[in-house]
Amino acid sequence: MNEILIGNKKSWNTVSHHFNGVDALPSYGPFAQTEDELHLFNEIKDKNVLEIGYGSGHSLRYMAEQGASELWGVDLSEEQRSAAESTLNGLNANLFCAPMEDDIGLPKGHFDIVYSIYAIGWTTDLPGTFQLIHSYLKKGGCFIFSWDHPLYPHLLMENGRIYLDSSYQEEGPYTIERFKGENAPMVLHKRKLSTYINELIKAGFTIEQVIESDVGERFEGVDGEVSDRYYSLYKARQFPTTMIIKAVKM
Ligand SMILES: C[S@@+](CC[C@H](N)C(=O)[O-])C[C@H]1O[C@@H](n2cnc3c(N)ncnc32)[C@H](O)[C@@H]1O
Repeated sequence: MNEILIGNKKSWNTVSHHFNGVDALPSYGPFAQTEDELHLFNEIKDKNVLEIGYGSGHSLRYMAEQGASELWGVDLSEEQRSAAESTLNGLNANLFCAPMEDDIGLPKGHFDIVYSIYAIGWTTDLPGTFQLIHSYLKKGGCFIFSWDHPLYPHLLMENGRIYLDSSYQEEGPYTIERFKGENAPMVLHKRKLSTYINELIKAGFTIEQVIESDVGERFEGVDGEVSDRYYSLYKARQFPTTMIIKAVKM
């Protein structure tokens, strides 16, 4: 494991308790439309599904409720695995604790659906991760993932006005020293929207849909008071929090 992954794993073990069911299907991300509104997954019943970054396991439970046949997942953190095990209590799931970047011998050409809710952006190797995901899918299978809109980490709010705080042109790693207010430094990568799209194409995917989220129906009529928080309803009404991409292995 590279240095970044060793550090991130330790920090994810520290902060995992903050993420119990936070970013999980049918939700795609903060304030964004849900799967009930977007209908990106076709048939889930009797399909083999693999989640990248399964976190607390709530999305896998959602997949089970929709009648998925086999539940598989990979996540970096042991703490997340124990959280997922208790969420999936009694359900048969193959949960692996490993970096998504590594080929840990997951079956190739086996999955109808690979998906990831707010985890893909953690990869330290985007091309390698997309190539692996492509290899796990059956022909005709789909890959759906959501992540922060790529411009989002460059934006700051001050007194209700959004401004660009750093160059969108600069891609690469950056460190958050205190994640979720804990002594849990995390290294993330800034990447452009075109980088995600081009790496999917290079890995062999056909892109079916790209969504820059709008505010979900559940917030209709809800007052979004002016806020300078990283995620807020007020900000989400002006700029997409979340990018969602659906790609297919033809
Ligand atoms: C925001 S959480 C995703 C939450 C998840 N969708 C849920 O329902 O709980 C991000 C997850 O990605 C995992 N993660 C971070 N870096 C990873 C990596 N390189 N490989 C695999 N999983 C990773 C973390 O351990 C964490 O569980």
